[in-house]
Formats: sequence, structure tokens, C-alpha cells
Amino acid sequence: MIDKVLGGAGLRGQVAGRTSLCTFGKSGSGLSYRGYDISELGEHSSFEEVAWLLLRGRLPTVAELSSYRRRLKSLRELPQGLRDILEKIPVRSHPMDVLRTGCSYLGNVEPEKTFSAQLDVADRLLAALPGVVVYWYRYSHEGVRVSTDTSADSLAGHFLEMLSGQAPSKFHARVMDISLILYAEHEFNASTFTARICASTLSDMHSCVTAAIGSLRGPLHGGANEAAMALIERFNSPEEVVEEVLGMLNRKELVMGFGHAIYRESDPRNLIIKKLAARLAEGHVRAHFYDISCAIERTMWEQKRLFANADFFHASAYHFMGIPTKMFTPIFVCSRVSGWAAHVIEQRSNNRIIRPSAEYIGESPRPYLPASER
Ligand code: COA
Repeated sequence: MIDKVLGGAGLRGQVAGRTSLCTFGKSGSGLSYRGYDISELGEHSSFEEVAWLLLRGRLPTVAELSSYRRRLKSLRELPQGLRDILEKIPVRSHPMDVLRTGCSYLGNVEPEKTFSAQLDVADRLLAALPGVVVYWYRYSHEGVRVSTDTSADSLAGHFLEMLSGQAPSKFHARVMDISLILYAEHEFNASTFTARICASTLSDMHSCVTAAIGSLRGPLHGGANEAAMALIERFNSPEEVVEEVLGMLNRKELVMGFGHAIYRESDPRNLIIKKLAARLAEGHVRAHFYDISCAIERTMWEQKRLFANADFFHASAYHFMGIPTKMFTPIFVCSRVSGWAAHVIEQRSNNRIIRPSAEYIGESPRPYLPASER
């Protein structure tokens, strides 16, 4: 388990810029994208619709949405040079590192030459990144050169089909679609702020997204869903949970998938994914993982008043759909690239380089001594 790393105030509560992309805890269920409540988007929309909304500022018409789906479908192919590189990345690598490399490589062979191409680059990354990570996964783990040209119309179905080699059930494809909607955008979180800082130097889209992937990789951010799965798998039954979780809390260990830097009472995304995890558990051989998850959630609330965040029930939901744990955080990337790109575009539209100041806590001024006198 990861030790708690003490840090400074983490800029908590500081307003670091303006956005019209996302609000937190202000109205409705507590999270909205461009004014649309996450509960309504999760219920009625699709990920492609949400990506269009984030990137282009309004919901698409029926014709725009179907043409956008066709467009994303046409942008899935990976260049041969990228496939060659993916085949050289070892099986023991983390797929987040693979995505970081894949995104960076695309920046070499398909560079964003002008900001007027920014939407094209964003669409290309949205369409290609699922193929990047799954191509590497299937090749390195199974020796299979997977086709990134699936028949699936949605990115959700496309990802699942490439990963398992067969078309997913309608329900699995819909759960994945909702999961992508939930992960698409979240204001000035660490990875998005990373992307905006990079954008503020007038850097290119691939650099901004590559930097953001690096931030999302950490266990305090995107990596929490994988760590949550590792915790859930430690138990055989819900009865074992209380003692172990209490021990972790007493040892001041973090229980991954709980707490949030901004939300204080609950994470609105958790309600949605928890319900889906419950349905996925029905009849599954490891249905007890759902009961174990609920026992962990109960214990955390009773002991620390800490609530499950979006990552916690995503862990069991993904597991029930047969997704390997190391692919959990990469799914987050495939979704959040929509929010990152939208923030990059927003930052560029009214830019000033982001350059805060630091409070100096080092030595007072002192004379330099030549090496021979030290
Ligand atoms: N497990 C155990 N204790 C936790 C905890 C967790 N998941 N999250 C917070 N706490 C503790 C903190 O250590 C702190 O304890 P202290 O008062 O004794 O120092 C207290 O609860 C309040 O923490 P808070 O200020 O709310 O957290 P933060 O803003 O510094 O950090 C997170 C926010 C998300 C980084 C933190 O909750 C965390 O590390 N969670 C686990 C990782 C995770 O799930 N990340 C995904 C976020 S969507």
C-alpha cells in the first residue's frame, strides 16, 4: 500500500483560472459539463456526444453526431511506424507509459503544425489512443496484431471489441460508454492543469496531452482505480473487510478510491457507476467483489466519513467486464483526452503563460566558497 506522502497545501481552494467547461458542486447532482448535469448526460447521452460538446461548445444535432461518429471511426488507423514501436515495448511496461509514448510518437509523425488544426488533432487522438494501448496489450501479452478497424460505431464498443476479440454485449458497451462520459472532464484536476500549463507556453496538442498522461498516471489521481482493485482482491468475503481497513487507517495508509480534493460529501459519479457495478455483478462468478466493495465503502464512511470517489466502483465494474486491471487507468486517458483537449483549446483562446510564484524557505544569502575551501 502506498504510504501517505506529506505535501504542502496543494493550492487547495485557489482559483487558478477561468473555464466554461465544467462546474463542481454548484447545482444539480454536483457536476456538469458546459451546464449539462452529469446524471442526465450519463442517462441519455453518448461519449461521442459529450466529446463533441466539450470540444465544440454545444450538443451536436442528429446529423452532426452521426457524421462525428463516422469521422472518429475513420481516424482509428495507426501508422506502421507506431505499430513497430508498440511491438518493441516490453510486456512488463505499464500501459500508461505505452500511451505516453504513443501520444508523443504521433506528435512526431502527425505534428500539429498550426492551432487551426487543433480540433483535428483532438479528434485523431480520441480515435487513435484506444488502438494504441490495446494494440500493445494484445501484441505483448498474446502475440496478436489486433486490427484497429473494428465494426463498432462507438469508442466504447471499439475498445472492448479490440481487447477481447469479439463484439461486446449491448449492456457492456453501454456501461463502457457511460464510464467514458463520467471520466471525460473534471475542471482543474492535476492532469488537466498540467495540460493547461503546457498549453500556456503555446506548445502543441500532443505535448499537452503527453504531459497530462504523465500526471494522470499517479496513484493519487487516475491510478486509484487500479489500486482499488488490488485492495478488493485481497478479500475473500465482506466479513474480512472491517478489521483490515481499520488496520490500514490506523497505520495511516491511504485507501485508494476514497476521498476527494474538492468534493466533501460524495462524488456524483460514484452513484452512477456503483449502480452499474451492481448490475454487472449479477450472476458473475466473482459477484462477491461487489459486496466486498460495499463493505469497504461502509467502513470508510463509518470510520473516517470518507466516501467512494469515481474510481472505486469503476474497479469492480471493469473487472466484471473482463478488463485486465492494468488497463483501467488507460481507459481514463481514452476518455479524458476529450476534456484535456477542450481545456487546451480554451487556454489558447485567452492565453497568458501560467507562471505562479513560490515562497522561498531556503538559506539566507551566503558567500560562495571555492571547492578547495569547503
Ligand atoms: N484513505 C485514507 N485517508 C484518507 C484518504 C484515503 N483515501 N483520503 C483522505 N484521507 C485523509 C487524509 O490523509 C487526511 O488525513 P489527516 O487529516 O489525518 O491528514 C484527511 O483524510 C483529509 O484529507 P483531504 O484533505 O480531504 O485530502 P486531500 O485533498 O489532501 O487529497 C485525495 C485528496 C483524493 C488525493 C485523497 O483523498 C487520496 O489520496 N485519496 C486516495 C486516492 C484516490 O482515490 N484518488 C482519486 C481521486 S478522484
